[in-house]
Amino acid sequence: MHCIRRITDDLAWVGANDRRLAMFEGVYSVPYGVSYNSYLLTDEKTVLFDTVDKAVRQRFLENLSEALGKRMLDYLVVQHMEPDHSAALMDLLDRYPSMTIVCNSKTLGFIKQFFNADIDSRVKIVKEGDRLEIGKHILNFIMAPMVHWPEVMVTYESTDKILFSADAFGSFGALNGALFADEVDFDRDYMDETRRYYTNIVGKYGTQTQAVLEKTSAFDINMICPLHGFVWRQKLQDIIGKYMLWSSYTPEESGVMIAYASVYGNTENAAEILACRLRDKGIRTTMFDVSVIPASEVVAAAFKWSHLVFASTTYNAGIFVTMEALINDLTSHNIQNRSVAIIENGSWAATSGGLIRDKLAKCKDITFISDVLSIKSSLKESQMTEMDALVDALAASFPTLPTSTDNTVSRPVEIDKDTLRKISYGLFVLSAKEGSKDNGCIINTVTQVANRPLSVAIAVNKANFTHDMVMRTGEFNISILAESTPFNIFERFGYSCGKDCDKFAGYADSSRTANDIRYLPEFTNAVVSAKVTEAIDCGSHSLFIADVTQAFTLSDEPSVTYQYYFDHIKPKPGLPKGAKKGFVCKICAYVYEGDVLPDDYICPLCKHGAEDFEPL
Ligand code: FEO
Repeated sequence: MHCIRRITDDLAWVGANDRRLAMFEGVYSVPYGVSYNSYLLTDEKTVLFDTVDKAVRQRFLENLSEALGKRMLDYLVVQHMEPDHSAALMDLLDRYPSMTIVCNSKTLGFIKQFFNADIDSRVKIVKEGDRLEIGKHILNFIMAPMVHWPEVMVTYESTDKILFSADAFGSFGALNGALFADEVDFDRDYMDETRRYYTNIVGKYGTQTQAVLEKTSAFDINMICPLHGFVWRQKLQDIIGKYMLWSSYTPEESGVMIAYASVYGNTENAAEILACRLRDKGIRTTMFDVSVIPASEVVAAAFKWSHLVFASTTYNAGIFVTMEALINDLTSHNIQNRSVAIIENGSWAATSGGLIRDKLAKCKDITFISDVLSIKSSLKESQMTEMDALVDALAASFPTLPTSTDNTVSRPVEIDKDTLRKISYGLFVLSAKEGSKDNGCIINTVTQVANRPLSVAIAVNKANFTHDMVMRTGEFNISILAESTPFNIFERFGYSCGKDCDKFAGYADSSRTANDIRYLPEFTNAVVSAKVTEAIDCGSHSLFIADVTQAFTLSDEPSVTYQYYFDHIKPKPGLPKGAKKGFVCKICAYVYEGDVLPDDYICPLCKHGAEDFEPL
């Protein structure tokens, strides 16, 4: 019986799970199973992205047949020829006689190596940057060599902005009914398996992975569909950020991973003492007995932690078997950019430490923290000074926060809100569109937060109607105001509520960006369009993190700062005629008439509280 999940109106998951596989690729245990993902895109033409492993072939064929209904399959895009994704290729050629295989020339060579079939007449060869229109959907092909095999390519569907990412962004673990990463507690339940998958399968090819990340960063991506594991439709930056770290061999966590190989427990004892002493110094530790923990887990941990300690007994005048396998595994996965310490044990001729060091010394950017700590059979009290020296050397290699000195003076706790006015701010028109409603407001907090992906953060007062529109639609424009902006622009967008009026009424220019949201072409030196990836509740305001989708410059005029606005644009406040006493809002110049300003008073224009008023 078929078992499919719909991703969009046009896209269905037709893959399958395998929970009986003992060893993935014959090497990696998969205690939680594995999914083989295949996706059917339905348009004027029908397109399938990859097939599955032979173990789940039957279920996959049923799924595909159900998802196609009465239609035929027009295209099979082969992004990766490894047999866990191509085992059903010949079945499809037989079942769908008009189907064309879309692949690159290297893939075609691999198809001929794996199968005996004359398929040239049924193949469409694509190369970097080629496009294939299948109706309203357009497929863009991007070569991704060595992520994980040389023929790998990924596909960007530019209408719905979906990246079919082949092995990239995949994970071990069956899907268990969930298909989207946001349907599960991903960090708690799947991040470790995702790291283990990347580091062991693709970890050696960090440079190539970085190249693909760079190429795909040019695209606006709404969804990532990998060949294993979950589909990403929210918080894409979470997984992309991890890939940035892993592929650049940057540690995720500061702390010490201790891997040890011990025959009778004495090397283990030394490793435990080291771990305890490091903890005494507040340094995080994790430990692996490499004789019982699969190497793939230790490799994954080595990619995670900043400091690595290897403790091994000597065996057959060399490194203990399981430790030697681990060290070979790590070097072949290109481990680099780590601080390393080594403990060796040997009852008569200890050699393991030096041999481990020689192997790791060939890796890039490995810093050895100290000389090898060599023990004979077991650690003795007389060697505790050496152990302490190792602990101190490791501790000293962690960055330390500056500590206060005796001659510093502690200020009493106080919060002077005017202090925050020393922070430099700009002034911007934030605009949004919901249905046919255009709206905008003035905000003062916009900042770029990352280069890759190019992203910004904006803070918006929840009392603004534009805030609610951005929250609901997930898109906005920022018009960066210039120094020539007249006060009436601030009045128009800052002194009324979009719920009650059309803030663009009478505004002559109706320019819109590609997201169909209005912007201010006048008095604006640049415009940024962005799509929200995360909204953080900060109390009075929401902080929106958003990927930049469009950005252009309109003039070289300086941007208006908050200070410039106060000094040169905002009219000087004065009491209305006949009024005796009043308070002026320091933010927008609204004047409250009266002898006493209520503590809970909220400015009707800019929504700031009584603390932002001063007596006139
Ligand atoms: Fe899941 Fe490289 O294949």
